[in-house]
Amino acid sequence: MTAPRRLHLNAFVMGVGHHEAAWRHPRTDPAATLDVGHYQRIARKAEEGRLDSIFLADGVALAGNVRHNALDHFEPLTLLAAIAAATEHIGLIATASTTYNEPFNLARKFASLDHISGGRAGWNIVTSASEAEARNFGVDRPGHADRYARADDFLEAAVKLWDSWEDGSVLRDTASGVFADTAKIHEVGHEGPFFRVKGPLNISRGPQGRPLLVQAGSSESGKEFAARWAEAVFTAQQTLAEGKAFYADLKGRLARYGRGAGELLVLPGISPFIGSTEAEAERLQEEFQELINPEYGIAQLSHMTGLDLSGHPLDGPLPDGLPETTEGNRSRFELVVGLARREGLTIRGLIGRLAGGRGHRVVAGTPERIADQIQEWFENGAADGFNVMPPYYPGGLDDFVDHVVPILRARGLFRTEYESRTLRGHYGLARPDSRYASFARAGLTEVTA
Ligand SMILES: Cc1cc2nc3c(=O)[nH]c(=O)nc-3n(C[C@H](O)[C@H](O)[C@H](O)COP(=O)(O)O)c2cc1C
Repeated sequence: MTAPRRLHLNAFVMGVGHHEAAWRHPRTDPAATLDVGHYQRIARKAEEGRLDSIFLADGVALAGNVRHNALDHFEPLTLLAAIAAATEHIGLIATASTTYNEPFNLARKFASLDHISGGRAGWNIVTSASEAEARNFGVDRPGHADRYARADDFLEAAVKLWDSWEDGSVLRDTASGVFADTAKIHEVGHEGPFFRVKGPLNISRGPQGRPLLVQAGSSESGKEFAARWAEAVFTAQQTLAEGKAFYADLKGRLARYGRGAGELLVLPGISPFIGSTEAEAERLQEEFQELINPEYGIAQLSHMTGLDLSGHPLDGPLPDGLPETTEGNRSRFELVVGLARREGLTIRGLIGRLAGGRGHRVVAGTPERIADQIQEWFENGAADGFNVMPPYYPGGLDDFVDHVVPILRARGLFRTEYESRTLRGHYGLARPDSRYASFARAGLTEVTA
């Protein structure tokens, strides 16, 4: 008998909430954005709900108009190390850029987090789409295709580094004085178009072998990259039809890389306003919407589309003559422009639609209604689980864990207890062998990886 298919749930942690006006609402404390205890509490709540993981987004520039939002935030790997020490099971996913890092530095940091957390590290791989980020490194923003080409080479090098210490290479034999079996520790000799890395890494293989690899780009190159490397994909999808098409598209690409459909999980975003009645949930959403600052919204919209919309009338449509695509965040650009056109939205209307989840689906309703939506997508080929984006923290996650999760559990859709201690285990994904161990087993003496 095969085990029933179960949902995977990730809590997308963002300051005091995903709604852009969350910091102004009385249900949040705006000082919490730089309070480690705030994040440890959120992680423990997610763990109490037996969620698979928490995730921290990141960029390497101050993004958005900080005059009107609490946008200062911790560097994710640093914060997750502090969260690891306060939790036992929850997976810990940090965002880091392949454009503004070197493989050795980053492979080392993720291996460290994997050891520190006992096998709970995950990496949300991003290529850094904004021009503001390029300016912090004294370069012009590389083009879209170049960023993904660099990301491919980055991953090749990073995977070799994580594999460079085979399992069983650390002996710690105090009697003989042999600390490590150096026959099982390998130089990687990576020579790629972007990186040359000799290796090995200076930290042994982590409990998961490699961190869980997560990705969130949905353009053509983004999907191809995901099909090759990612084990979980976060995505913004507005309708069930779009969600199904994206899911089928991505899963359909896996065979090209010798991978099965179960080796990559698709997690669309959902931002739930939860109330004990529909009216209460809608009222709560309205309270947040009333706090929106159009000046901030315009800056966000300009950031998402890569267009300067500051001079345009709020009650008019998006300007004519928009480009077809962007060198920046391509899928979000298309989502936002598509949404405005499909629904005939003014700039103000669009700002209102994006304020809750920046293009992710926002649902206001009772716990049953939220659970129904999750179930519908899960059972109709649009999702393997969800990236849960509470509009405000910590209360929005508390309500999800206390009221929505029990319904999902009662319907047999979600776990009651953790069955594993690692992030890979929660997601039902195998621990990869070191490529060098695989070579050895195949009887190859020389490793030319
Ligand atoms: C849920 C979600 C979270 C994301 N988090 C980040 C992030 O933390 N940092 C970042 O630079 N980009 C982030 N992105 C953007 C993607 O990594 C990617 O750059 C974007 O989707 C554009 O890729 P594309 O041009 O392939 O469509 C996120 C996207 C999604 C859907």
